[in-house]
Amino acid sequence: MTADDASADDADSDLDLDLVELAKRRGFFFQANGAYGGVAGFYVYGPQGASLKRNLEDAWRDRFVTREGHVEIDAPTVMPEAVFEASGHLDGFDDMIVECPECGESHRADHLVEDATDIEEAESIPTDEVEALIAERDLRCPTCGTALADVPVSEFNLMFGTNIGPGTSSPGYLRPETAQGIFAEFPRLKEYARGQLPFGVAQIGRAYRNEISPRRALVRVREFTQAELEHFVDPERDDPDLERVADVELPLYAAPDQEREEGSVEVLTVREAVAENVITSEWVAYYLGVATRWYERIGVDMDRFRFRQHLSGELAHYASDCWDAETEIDGNWVEVTGFAYRGDYDLSKHAEHSDEEFTVFRQYDEPVTVERATVDPDMSYLGPEFAGAAADVADALEDLAAEAPDAFGGEDVTVEVGGEPYVVPVEKTGFGVEEVTESGEHVTPHVVEPSFGVGRLVYTVLEHAYREDEVDGERRSYLELPPELAPTTVGVFPLMDKDGLGDRAREVADDLRAAGLSVTYDDSGAIGRRYRRQDEIGTPYCVTVDYDSLEDDTVTLRDRDSTAQVRVPIDELPGRIAALRAGGGTEFADVGDPVDGGAGAGVD
Ligand code: ATP
Ligand code: GLY
Repeated sequence: MTADDASADDADSDLDLDLVELAKRRGFFFQANGAYGGVAGFYVYGPQGASLKRNLEDAWRDRFVTREGHVEIDAPTVMPEAVFEASGHLDGFDDMIVECPECGESHRADHLVEDATDIEEAESIPTDEVEALIAERDLRCPTCGTALADVPVSEFNLMFGTNIGPGTSSPGYLRPETAQGIFAEFPRLKEYARGQLPFGVAQIGRAYRNEISPRRALVRVREFTQAELEHFVDPERDDPDLERVADVELPLYAAPDQEREEGSVEVLTVREAVAENVITSEWVAYYLGVATRWYERIGVDMDRFRFRQHLSGELAHYASDCWDAETEIDGNWVEVTGFAYRGDYDLSKHAEHSDEEFTVFRQYDEPVTVERATVDPDMSYLGPEFAGAAADVADALEDLAAEAPDAFGGEDVTVEVGGEPYVVPVEKTGFGVEEVTESGEHVTPHVVEPSFGVGRLVYTVLEHAYREDEVDGERRSYLELPPELAPTTVGVFPLMDKDGLGDRAREVADDLRAAGLSVTYDDSGAIGRRYRRQDEIGTPYCVTVDYDSLEDDTVTLRDRDSTAQVRVPIDELPGRIAALRAGGGTEFADVGDPVDGGAGAGVD
């Protein structure tokens, strides 16, 4: 990694530089390791950012875990190679890379094509066609301008590798998605769910991808936080309660619309989208409905939002259908969440590669009697005849009887072991058919997965909350963050730090903290400047302790967005601010007496 690599990150022309500058100045986020020149793709959340991120995660947990009745786990971020052999990430978790022959800089080949053409998802195009497009359009290295025609485009695996313990005998990888920490533990997790489908397991944690060209601040980084839910369902028996979200309107950009020249986003309710088969999985439709309401709750501007279906060439190796929630950031559409129908892909693969059962037992309504083909091979014949392969031949006969009993209809039956055919007389196989009564069967659950990128949502929420207006003839910038998400809920100021005002204000701040609210105390500079500082980081409420407070035990409470002020008794302040923060219909004008002729008056 070079210093050039790091500075490329900050020089990104797509960035909203005002926001990135504000984020750095006010402690939301900044590039990590600045003292050592910085490394692209790694960011620190500062005091405000860490608090905003935690509040966003709490809001996610509230909606997707608690209210859905799911559970949450916390699994390791380093996992052994075998997990990723099974999951398919070792073979298939690749992006297209093209390396400049002149300056040596690596670039995402599909992104170069997207930047230079109308193609929106070049990821779905085969590598050789991307190579051809680069030549045809005479695309050049963004760093040094060298022509990239005829430079090979290859696949680059995004996983960070490591060694577990000393030496190289036990390779491991930093997980590229939190999901594998849930799938790999399914045999135990199903026990906690008493083997009953459906059940959901969530995880909020770090994921790592060695992105070829990290860019646009938190949008494409190499270490990031995901909030993922793996909902295990019985595909034949479990349906979502679609009525709960049936009327939610979804802005859908379906795959066929992306492929048609005049195709565009169509707004359908969840009910319509399912009835018209635009969304084929009811579970996916259900989560798009739930998530739409949640995005509104956390302050995403729904006029800059859409759900885009993956084109078939774009689908991840595990998904049969996928819709991305995309937000418009800095004039570009950015995926913030993937809603994938993963079917039984993951659990079947882990079952194939491990010694554990990744199924649940599905009880029949009534026991059923079935005919079952069995074998009881004559080992005194198989042993001398097939020597070292005899036991494997016996196992192969057993499998064949279960899968294709008709194969035992002739005089001989042939099985394959280690690529070799073995012919066995049927009379030596002990083949027979018996009647058995069964109370149920083992099934592999299907998985529906909403996968949220926390950093991209933090960035969206900040960008969509940014406002500028004028107060008392001065330009102000503020963040209209929902109170639930704001890093600080209340700023507490004494009018001046004298005559006991400071002591009273510190007591007020302590009482608010004791009520569990996040509070900043500030006694420096003019009151107007203190308001501006809080406005800039999105603090929804400010409290001023003045001379009247010493007389009548009331304070001024000021609303960030309207700058309106009301007078509130100090002992009722914590409860009223908590009610405002919780939402639920409490209006600012109702929590106190108007100041200066009305709660609508801005009197900064
Ligand atoms: P992209 O196509 O933008 O690389 P992806 O399709 O690879 O994204 P997923 O694999 O579906 O993304 O990951 C789930 C979520 O994790 C994404 O919706 C996104 O919010 C987040 N995410 C993925 N890669 C990154 C990254 N490099 N930096 C930040 N967030 C990411
Ligand atoms: N779990 C979905 C993804 O990260 O790809």
